Amino acid sequence: MIKMDKNKVKNICCIGAGYVGGPTMAVIAEKCPDIQINVVDIDIERINKWNSKDLSKLPVFEPGLSNIISKCRDNNLHFSTDTENNIARADVIFISVNTPTKTKGIGAGYASDLTWIESSARQIAKFASGHTIIVEKSTLPVKTAETIKQILKGEAKLHYLEGETKEKSFSIISNPEFLAEGTAINDLEFPDRVLIGGEDSYSIDLIADIYTKWVPKHKIIKTNLWSSELSKLVANAFLAQRVSSINSISALCESTGADIKEVSLAVGADHRIGDKFLKSGPGFGGSCFKKDILNLVYLCKYYGLTQVSEYWEQVLKINSWQQERISSIIVEKLFGNINNKKICILGFSFKANTNDIRESPGIQICKDLMNEGALLSIFDPKVEKDIILKTLKKSYKDKDFEKKCKVETSILNAARYSDAILIITDWDQFRKIDWSEIFSIVNQPAWIFDTRICLEKSYIKKIGFNLWSLGSS
Ligand code: UDX
Repeated sequence: MIKMDKNKVKNICCIGAGYVGGPTMAVIAEKCPDIQINVVDIDIERINKWNSKDLSKLPVFEPGLSNIISKCRDNNLHFSTDTENNIARADVIFISVNTPTKTKGIGAGYASDLTWIESSARQIAKFASGHTIIVEKSTLPVKTAETIKQILKGEAKLHYLEGETKEKSFSIISNPEFLAEGTAINDLEFPDRVLIGGEDSYSIDLIADIYTKWVPKHKIIKTNLWSSELSKLVANAFLAQRVSSINSISALCESTGADIKEVSLAVGADHRIGDKFLKSGPGFGGSCFKKDILNLVYLCKYYGLTQVSEYWEQVLKINSWQQERISSIIVEKLFGNINNKKICILGFSFKANTNDIRESPGIQICKDLMNEGALLSIFDPKVEKDIILKTLKKSYKDKDFEKKCKVETSILNAARYSDAILIITDWDQFRKIDWSEIFSIVNQPAWIFDTRICLEKSYIKKIGFNLWSLGSS
């Protein structure tokens, strides 16, 4: 097996063609036309979608992604299920598989399930040839590199490819992603920083060379392995902590007569605090925040740092509480009873401009409302009907589920004859709704619950709606 010259990466394999692997490899392919990139996945359906001629069928929706795919696919960017050969060819292997929170066994509910990491490491040990740099891209618990190393050490000895003379060798690098959904391509093209952690400067520099094709050198931070792994968890924990902090104050604003928007503005104007991530809402969602904090909490507990683990766990507690209190407020405002009342839910994704519903606050809020007997009528511009129904059916087990929960394809249909409208996601189109028209088709007294503070209070009230807006009285 001939591998490229030692000082330049020529062939990359990325295991995992999901939200992280797909966009990241697309951007590397675009910026480094001299590198061949193979993205592999065991899920053939997902690979077929990445290879689809119709670019609207790509499995990940990100502004700017389809342009890059059409430019690079089949030139230096390839999607396939051929893990074996692509591992063998690669100088660098990115691991971008999913690491969900464990549901059973030791660390259940906190620790990450490393099944896919482990199986990737075993495959790499088996099929890699010569020297290979392994890059952890998925967000992982700290010290995962140690696990990978041990697997490689044990397995690699057992597997030699035909004609191979030299021993296989590996370096492990941690290069966490910091991309947010909806802005992934922009985040990759103009990152705040690129973090590269490792144990040998040769591998760190080789990976850094990939990024310096488009990222200024001063934005590339080189650290040891563990600092890099930990920094990713901490960055997400800090972001989530800001959201929980402002959400905790939203409740205080409702009680005191202060206005959370004004408080956010005033607090964020201090340049030491900054104005980002101070928007109060129904709680954070997404695939990372909760999982990463749970990992951090687990790590602290493991090292006996009880106070530290409790500190971070509180960020999650406030997040759940923020979601729970919304349904209680709705019940209270609708005369203490929402049994058989129709509630129109606007937005189900965890934030705007994505079809992702992982950890969306909408899931818990809808479940709570259904538990109180409400009939739901949901509209989301991007999330597929089946996905919403499947998710809610899982958490609300009731033989009459289909009668109690409907997903509509228009705002008007969702709102018709409803007793209350609840805004969960701040899709831009909700700001442009003709609320007078909605007022004429809903039950009276008409209520709107705005958890994203996206409506103009005076306009809504003038029409005749009762309005509850998060974080103000
Ligand atoms: C996040 C991190 O931003 C990213 O760096 C990391 O790699 C993955 O996790 P993402 O999950 O896509 O990205 O979403 P993000 O835009 O960060 O929002 C997370 C959640 O916080 C959303 O539910 C959002 O609605 C909420 N949020 C964010 C607020 O409620 N208020 C804010 O001010 C900001």
